[in-house]
Amino acid sequence: MWPYPRILAHRGGGTLAPENTLAGFRCGLEHGYRAAEFDVMLTRDEVPILMHDPQRGRTLPGAGKIAESDWAELRDLEAGAWLDARFAGERLCTLEQGLDFCLAEGIWMNVEIKPAAAEFARRTGELTAQAVARRFAGKSGAALPVLSSFSFEALLAAKEAAPALPRGYLVDVIPEDWQARLEQLQAVALHTNHKHLTPSLAAAVKTAGYGLFCYTVNDMARAEEIRQWGVDAFCTDRIDLIAADAW
Ligand code: G3P
Ligand code: MG
Repeated sequence: MWPYPRILAHRGGGTLAPENTLAGFRCGLEHGYRAAEFDVMLTRDEVPILMHDPQRGRTLPGAGKIAESDWAELRDLEAGAWLDARFAGERLCTLEQGLDFCLAEGIWMNVEIKPAAAEFARRTGELTAQAVARRFAGKSGAALPVLSSFSFEALLAAKEAAPALPRGYLVDVIPEDWQARLEQLQAVALHTNHKHLTPSLAAAVKTAGYGLFCYTVNDMARAEEIRQWGVDAFCTDRIDLIAADAW
């Protein structure tokens, strides 16, 4: 039901390195992590990049929406100094670069499709799935990344573009119709916020035969609690506190 790694570094290297950058993946490796979650968004000119926020200001200097910026405007921006001066010089990472790096280093991936705006949902799902499918042509089973998204529409588009790639439906609060949604997406797992999970909901998801993944668990006591509930895997910001092989 969950053939994939069980503990993942959130956004590349958790909060120890700039999120969604190669520095993040490197930091994960230094902490023994060979599995990561990251976010993928499209620029205006449809370059899939690793990015969480739909706008500049927090992890990138200046202002402006990612969906209204071309890759050429973004590629040279400082993407590491916001967290710590020692990361100065880090740049944004394209999906292609991220996939290449993770494949070369043996990092398993949960690729979160993160449309910058609702109107880009389908296209973001489609292009992300196509890029991943190209890189994983001929591979199957546990080697494949899991594509996830809060956007049902994006995941449907991903399914149409690359049906063989496994999908996880990502929700903050588990909705009433979760099972119908998972069926429609032919998903392998439900990804959810551990803060809203209950033992009975966890049991229902597991009884229905799906994988159950939680975000973002930052202490081991909580991890152990949800493990008792049947949770298969989780991502963490605290790769320094939680050992990659703790489960
Ligand atoms: O995929 C799990 C988690 O990353 C979802 O929330 O906002 O950190 O992308 P967020
Ligand atoms: Mg994410």
